[in-house]
Amino acid sequence: MTSVSLNINGAPVTCEVQDNTLLVQLLRDNLGMTGTHVGCDTTQCGCCVVHVDNTSVKSCTMLALQANGCDVKTIEGLALGGELHPVQKSFQENHALQCGFCTPGMIMAAIDLINSYQGELTPQAVREEMEGNLCRCTGYHNIVKAIMASAETMRATGTVHAVAE
Ligand code: FES
Ligand code: FES
Repeated sequence: MTSVSLNINGAPVTCEVQDNTLLVQLLRDNLGMTGTHVGCDTTQCGCCVVHVDNTSVKSCTMLALQANGCDVKTIEGLALGGELHPVQKSFQENHALQCGFCTPGMIMAAIDLINSYQGELTPQAVREEMEGNLCRCTGYHNIVKAIMASAETMRATGTVHAVAE
């Protein structure tokens, strides 16, 4: 076992992990943070996306030890003071989910996309950039609508990252 120390949603965390423990296992199994889902375990579905140092990462693809010293944000850290993040709100308002299994990863990936996309974000660009996130229910139409709507809100309100820095 090796000790890993990281910051998760603004709180310092230290725990003991195996060398082969994945970041998603650290979150779900060691810390009980089950908002981050596992859909495939093979880097295909995007259900497990979190932010590591403000960049979206498939947490089933990263070792917990690789996140040592990093700032990790998960779906649990998005709402501030009981107020949903604009992307969460937009998914709710645009009916961008059905079973909700893919939703945490979709939202985390969408926030990074909105923050980092260079140029004009179009529905086509959203579809292309979100191709690493799969949904078995919605047909994607409302997900794209929700991301487009929240991109406008985030830019208008200056919302950048999920939790208070
Ligand atoms: S569980 Fe990580 S990409 Fe599917
Ligand atoms: S809402 Fe069910 S998998 Fe996306």
